[in-house]
Amino acid sequence: MTATKGLEGIVATTSSISSIIDDTLTYVGYNIDDLAENASFEEVIYLLWHLKLPNKAELAELKQQLADNMELPKEVLDSFKTYPINKVHPMGALRTAVSALGLYDDEADVMDDAANYRKAIRLQAKMPAIVASFARVRKGLEPIAPRKDLGFAANFLYMLTGKEPEAIAVEAFNKALVLHADHELNASTFTARVCVATLSDVYSGVTAAIGALKGPLHGGANEQVMKMLSEIGSVENVDAYIHDKLANKVKIMGFGHRVYRKGDPRAKHLKAMSEKLTKLTGEPEYYDMSTKIEEIVTSEKALPPNVDFYSASVYHSLGIDHDLFTPIFAVSRVSGWLAHILEQYSNNRLIRPRAEYTGPGMQTYIQIENR
Ligand SMILES: CC(C)(COP(=O)(O)OP(=O)(O)OC[C@H]1O[C@@H](n2cnc3c(N)ncnc32)[C@H](O)[C@@H]1OP(=O)(O)O)[C@@H](O)C(=O)NCCC(=O)NCCS
Repeated sequence: MTATKGLEGIVATTSSISSIIDDTLTYVGYNIDDLAENASFEEVIYLLWHLKLPNKAELAELKQQLADNMELPKEVLDSFKTYPINKVHPMGALRTAVSALGLYDDEADVMDDAANYRKAIRLQAKMPAIVASFARVRKGLEPIAPRKDLGFAANFLYMLTGKEPEAIAVEAFNKALVLHADHELNASTFTARVCVATLSDVYSGVTAAIGALKGPLHGGANEQVMKMLSEIGSVENVDAYIHDKLANKVKIMGFGHRVYRKGDPRAKHLKAMSEKLTKLTGEPEYYDMSTKIEEIVTSEKALPPNVDFYSASVYHSLGIDHDLFTPIFAVSRVSGWLAHILEQYSNNRLIRPRAEYTGPGMQTYIQIENR
């Protein structure tokens, strides 16, 4: 038995949800470029869960179901005050809150298809409220209840700020949600599938996935990109900063990818948004620094930017706290996790690979007094 480090190139499951072929990403056969330009996030949720685009009535029904399920149980909302609020990262809070949601769902362990779908709706609907409410509570502000008349993207921004967001912010945020929704068998999605393949429940699967997304090699990269941009401070400093990191073999966050070779097709959309939004907010230096970094890293390391690189300056321009960037990724990616969880249940087999053993050979047990 020979191990493949990081399971590179291993095909671990079949899936009808999304595909990456020749650097093109599709959701159920629809090119991500088309979806980013045209689709609402709610349409994409429906697409991932039903493997077809909704008609008007189907979309209206899903929107209604999401709107009806956005509010958090009081117990979960109240529990935020018991967290070590000034120390905890919002991803840790999100992981804990999603796990807690399962405690207050009477159907948490009901495993038929209809109950699992209802839980998918509830979880998808409540993720924005968790992130936005926690973000307010930790600042000593009251959480804001979602509004049934606002769409998914607008509702999140509204719950975060208490103000109805401008159309351009909603459009940008919706596009970011669409672009992050699913991505074949990425680390967090694989984690979710491994978890539920034991026939564990939906809440456990999503909690596990949040844990995997949190790491800086996965979803945590977008926050690290913003940290890097803040440290660099201005375009003149980019050259020295990046060359120093590369010389010291420090990874530049937001670059590289296990699967894409020519480039991540999502990055160009976020780059265009970053250019537009940073100009509008009067902070074009974030975009200028980013393009300069891209120039150096692509020419010196042949590594193109991934989805996390330009999403950092996009979220910053929307006025979002930097440590909320990865939780926002989760607000979108939970749609993909849930699609994969439902798919896993529909054709399940326990996921249990093998390990290539590299420890000592057979040993004889020695009594403790003789060691
Ligand atoms: C995405 C990522 C985890 C893929 O990892 P992977 O397929 O396991 O690739 P590796 O980490 O083995 O990298 C292969 C080589 O490229 C280099 N490399 C990869 N990403 C790099 C980066 N962002 N900056 C500098 N060098 C990088 C590695 O140092 C390694 O070089 P070496 O062969 O000389 O040791 C990796 O590119 C990375 O860590 N990127 C930064 C984090 C990030 O943006 N994550 C979000 C992904 S969407």
